Formats: sequence, structure tokens, C-alpha cells
Amino acid sequence: MGNDSATGDTNELAGRHKPIWFDTSPQTEYAALDGELRVDTAVVGGGIAGITTAFELRNAGQSVALLDRNRILRSVTGHTTAKLTSLHGLIYAHLCDHFGQQHARQYAGANEAAIDGIEATVREHDIDCGFVRTPAYTYVESEDGHQKIREEVEAARNLGLPATYVESTELPYDAEAAVEFANQARFQPRKYLLELARRIPGGNSHIFEETTVQDVTDGTPCRVQTDRGEVVARDVVIATHFPIRDPALYFTRLSPKRSYVLGARLAAAPPEGMYYDPEEPYFSVRPHPVDGESMVLIGGQNHRTGQGDSTKERYRRLEQQARERFDIESIEYQWATQDYVAIDRVPFVGRLAPQMCHLYVATGFGGWGMTNGTAAGRLLSDLILGRENPYRSVYRPARLQLGASLGRLLSHNTHAAKHLIGDRTERRPRLDRSRLARGEAAVFTAQDEPVAAYRDEGGELHAVSAVCPHMGCLVSWNDGEQSWDCPCHGSRFDIDGTVLDTPAVDDLDHPDHTYDGDRSNTSERRL
Ligand code: FES
Repeated sequence: MGNDSATGDTNELAGRHKPIWFDTSPQTEYAALDGELRVDTAVVGGGIAGITTAFELRNAGQSVALLDRNRILRSVTGHTTAKLTSLHGLIYAHLCDHFGQQHARQYAGANEAAIDGIEATVREHDIDCGFVRTPAYTYVESEDGHQKIREEVEAARNLGLPATYVESTELPYDAEAAVEFANQARFQPRKYLLELARRIPGGNSHIFEETTVQDVTDGTPCRVQTDRGEVVARDVVIATHFPIRDPALYFTRLSPKRSYVLGARLAAAPPEGMYYDPEEPYFSVRPHPVDGESMVLIGGQNHRTGQGDSTKERYRRLEQQARERFDIESIEYQWATQDYVAIDRVPFVGRLAPQMCHLYVATGFGGWGMTNGTAAGRLLSDLILGRENPYRSVYRPARLQLGASLGRLLSHNTHAAKHLIGDRTERRPRLDRSRLARGEAAVFTAQDEPVAAYRDEGGELHAVSAVCPHMGCLVSWNDGEQSWDCPCHGSRFDIDGTVLDTPAVDDLDHPDHTYDGDRSNTSERRL
């Protein structure tokens, strides 16, 4: 589920406004569901976790139905920077402290096994996806980061990971110290996953696109209701970025983060390896050679969805940072992405809720979805098939691993509550909508209801309810993607209210009122 953000040349920022992966792999055209179907397992969501699950189950002889609201691999998986690594910033010292050695070892093992598993699949099926082994680095630029790097190296080495402490890298700017993980990898994620997807249909197995799941019920069997018909299945996997069914209150444990990526052409060869500076906001560098040319993917400027500065400004800042560090010939691509971070930093993979026997979930990959998503697909398929999996325990959704995460839990939920209450009671000055210029957006009140309005470059006014259908927070304008984003739990909508990203399942309401030209009883909060 979910959707890509704007994918056209929708603003004046440099480069094509879409992920590089879309230009270097074909689009899909799977048919929509039509009527009722019975399968062993239904998988909701066509990203890396959903496709990997369906692929593994199909290989084990099950019949599967994979359903996606739009086209597969267009959502967060299509917007990745595609680093295949078990080095996730600085995480192992944290895991050892708060989860213990055993679970930290499981997390490390699951992510290392994901890289090896992808490589084995690439070889077995001869998939042309540019899979290359390369080192990964987490580095710091300030002297006071040395200690954190040393602690991370020590924790990782104790877990059997290929970690080394280094004080020089191939970056063209100074890194004070870094953790190096040998033998990590990069690939073209859509090319890899499109090949997995191609092997799913056949017999009684299917991929259905443009099929919106409206409800999922646990039972014997489970039922998946969609706008195109119903799928009856023994088991159902919900791999929709944020789960579209939330009986276990995941919204209290997942924080939505957006970040930005530039695809830049360099004057010189890019550095070997993949680099990540975990300071806030993070900064990441990952080479992507295209037809012998020196492209590099530069990511960063992360922030909580729906709040803070203009998102156009964030693109500009990222470009400025990139130009300060590299000799850039041109910016060829720019895109934004969103992921959910679990408050204890470990994804939730397993039973959707303890009382549910046949509904499963995979969510909260925290920006490291290529390996965590692959690990999730392999774990879920093992759970459904009744097979042992050595990594089950660390990802268990029912865990309560608060410890140092308690502060983050409180801060996350206080923040959402503040928006839920504060936004609705905020007084907005009056609006003269004739002053809503082309390209400008505002939330205002009309007939006592908050309305989100955007006047497009052609002069047409797009007005929808500003109330997020998930839990009622007010949406904010995202000028970089031309979308309405919810600051509470990260739902996103296009200018006409269509859901772009969960947890909301329903679109923003369309008020009966025609706002353009009617100036009565309105006030605004200009954005
Ligand atoms: Fe939860 Fe909007 S995403 S209220």
C-alpha cells in the first residue's frame, strides 16, 4: 500500500523529480482483482517485505495473492537508496545495552543473512540487478564522536560482525573515525524485486495491482475485502509500510520520518563503499555507476513527517551540503522518501496482535528496509509454513523493550496528542482566498470545518477536508512534493485528497461546499 510521492517535474528544484530506479527498470501492469478468490496466503503490500514473503511461500508450494493499492514497488521500496548492509548507523551498542547480546546477535544475523540470501537468489535465478559487494561505513566528522565509533566496533565485533575501526575513508572530505563493515552490497532494487515478482503468478498464485484493501478479518479462514472483490485465505500478511489494520496500537510505537535523496553526477569517480553519518540530520553517500558514469546518491535532511521547515528548503539544504563535499557536475534526480522508526529501533515482524492467529505484520524498518524487509519476508514465510527461524524473537511485535526508549515513546505520543488537540483549537486569521496565489496552499476554516486548499499553477483551487481520517489531526502542506502530510502518524494525501501513504486508508473528505469565489465565514492558517 502507499504510493510514491510526486513523480513528475512538479517544482523548480534541480533534476528529475523521481527515483533513479524508475528510469532504469520497466513499469508493471498486473491486472486488478475481479471477484472472489481462495488462496493459502494473501499478502497486502507490494514492497520488498511483501514480495519476498510471497516469493518464498510460492517457492514452498503455496498459492498466494499479492495485492497492491497502486503498482508494486512504487512506494517506499521504490524510493530507497538501496544499501544492503547490516551496519545501520550506530545500533549494536544500543542493542546490546537494551535488548541483550542474544537479541543483538539475532538482529545482526538476520541482516547479514538477508544480504547473503539476496546474493544467492541473484545467482540462482541469474538476475541482472547490479549486485556488487562493497564495504559500508558509519562515520563521524567531529572528534567527540570517536568514543561512539569505538563502542560500536567493539559491540559489533563481539557479535561476530565484520567490523573494523578506521580513521580514513575514500570520502573527499575528512571523517574523524568510522566503523567499516566489510563485504556488504548494493544493487538495483526494482530490477531484483521485479524478477522475484515475475515468478509469483501461475497456478493459483496472483499479483493484483490497483486493488485497494478495505478491511482484513482474522479467522478460519481470514477474509480480505477490497474494492474489487474478496480474497479468502488461511493466512494474511500486512506489509503496507504502516499496517492498515492496527489492533495492537502500532501508531503509539512508530514514528514517521521523511528524508531526501539527490542523484548527482560527479566530476570525478565516486568513493568506493557506502557511507552514513548518523548525526541529526543524517548524511549518506552511496555510489551508483550508470553506464560507466559517476553517479552518487546523496541522502539526508530527515525530519518528522508533516512538521518543520519547507520541504523545498530541505532539498536546497541537501544540495548545498552535497556541493560543499563533492565536485558535482549536475543534479540528475531528486526524490523524497518516508519510513517508520520503531521507538526501540527494531522492526515489528510477526503476529499482528497476540490474539490473532493468522494475521501477520512487517513494519518499522527505520530506513534500513532492504535487509530488514528481506529478513521480514523470510521470517514471515517461515512462520506461516511452521518452520523454525533463528531471528524470530528479536522482531517479535509483542515485545516490550522500553528501557531507554521510554523517553522516545512519551515524546512521540505527546507530540501526536499536541497536534490532535492543539491543531483543532488553533485560531486562524481570516482568509481572503483571492490572495491564495498560484502554487500556494493554506489550511482555513469554512463553515466551521478545517479545509486544506491549494491553488495549482493553472489557477484551479483544490479544496479538501484538512482532517486526517486516521485519528483526526490536521494535515500540513508539503511544498516539495505538493502533498498534504499528517504530523501525527505520517499519513499523506495528494492535492485532491487521495491517500498516498498509510496509516490512513480513506481519502480526505471532499466537502460539498465550493470554496472558490465564496468568501463567507472563512479564516486561514497560511503555510
Ligand atoms: Fe494518524 Fe493522521 S496519521 S491522525
